[in-house]
Amino acid sequence: MSNKTINGFSKLSKKEKINWLSQTFLKGNTRATDLLSLYWHEDIERQKRHDEFIENALSNFFLPFAIAPNFNIDGRIYAIPMVIEESSVIAAASNSAKFWLARGGFKTEIVSTIKSGQIHLNFSGEAQTLSSFFETHKEQLIRSVDELSQSMKKRGGGLIDLKLADESDALIDYYYIDARFNTADAMGANYINSCLETIAETFRVLASNYEGFSQEQQPEVVMSILSNYVPECLVRVTVSCPVSELAQEGHNGNDFAHKFVRAVDIAQTNPLRAVTHNKGIMNGVDAVVLATGNDFRAVEAGVHAYACREGRYKSLSKAKIDQDLFEFSMELPLALGTVGGLTKLHPMVGVAMSILQEPSAEELMKIVATAGLAQNFAAVRSLVTTGIQKGHMKMHLLNLLSQYNGSQTTKIAAVEHFKTHTISARSVAEFVASHQKNDD
Ligand code: MEV
Repeated sequence: MSNKTINGFSKLSKKEKINWLSQTFLKGNTRATDLLSLYWHEDIERQKRHDEFIENALSNFFLPFAIAPNFNIDGRIYAIPMVIEESSVIAAASNSAKFWLARGGFKTEIVSTIKSGQIHLNFSGEAQTLSSFFETHKEQLIRSVDELSQSMKKRGGGLIDLKLADESDALIDYYYIDARFNTADAMGANYINSCLETIAETFRVLASNYEGFSQEQQPEVVMSILSNYVPECLVRVTVSCPVSELAQEGHNGNDFAHKFVRAVDIAQTNPLRAVTHNKGIMNGVDAVVLATGNDFRAVEAGVHAYACREGRYKSLSKAKIDQDLFEFSMELPLALGTVGGLTKLHPMVGVAMSILQEPSAEELMKIVATAGLAQNFAAVRSLVTTGIQKGHMKMHLLNLLSQYNGSQTTKIAAVEHFKTHTISARSVAEFVASHQKNDD
């Protein structure tokens, strides 16, 4: 066995873990070892809070926390907290927010808030037998989660319904029970999974006593889990204004609007473009989802599945011109929570929620979708006018200057110089080298 493996790593103290890592994988790299503890929070209690989120925590990994101000969402003004590493995202969101602030703002609507989970079954008998067993015992299955649902019910949520689906044509002997839930202000993953496992156990016990199933043809529970595909937990966001109000650098409003709509239509048609177009939307969505302590992997998985719902991967947003009115909109499936999970544990999530004036889950859905559409508008606007690199490289300049160890005076001179010169990794490296040489 390799001397780089270890048993019982999770049982070591944090210092022991770092020592082992240092001796085993970071030999000679004292800088890396030192950084692990340099990035600890100086307040031991705060650090402990972070360590307890996951197993084997060694250090913290910082990402910038920013706000994009001036968002008018349904007549209410928000500063939206965002956590992201990509340099141009906040500037783009802020830009877009201001652009639409002057044109009526973002209008949103919750389409529905239902989430689902499934109990996946094997059954080799007659479909009819399983179906009558299910219908006979459905009420009992639903009632089996009454106790678990008490506090969820008080908050207006709970299990809505159960349905049996026959998928045995697609996969031999495959059936599933579809459970639909409302989880109020919680994302609800724990609640849904606990309910599913309780229903599955009740199902197993009832089935084992059901005379209609022969000994050889007992239905078997394969697994029970929520679905991150939430096409019924949907928010719509729209911006619109007369075409004449869209005049841009080098484009009158009409030309710009038509080029913009064409770009969105291309993303509706061509998956090669649609993936990047939607990535731009997720720049905004993920940044707010992260800042508010929600599960960005769940959101990503669900959103991209939704983009494929018609059998082909498409743009999530749509644009049109109707009688000189430009309209840009998007429907987004978002399962988010403002209670439970990390929302009360991560202190910075608390800050984000305060900045957003303690939103409900539905309000947060509206805010996140707005950040996505704003980001998409900014990206497509740049693409069809100046090109993306102009703004992007301007924001990236400071990163390049840090990468090439530019001093503070070099950075100031560089920002001035690159107002009129093309920014590239090479041109910045050359500028830093020559400027610092002259400084010496
Ligand atoms: C970059 O992070 C995002 C964009 O590529 C999005 C787009 O192409 O629409 C600019």
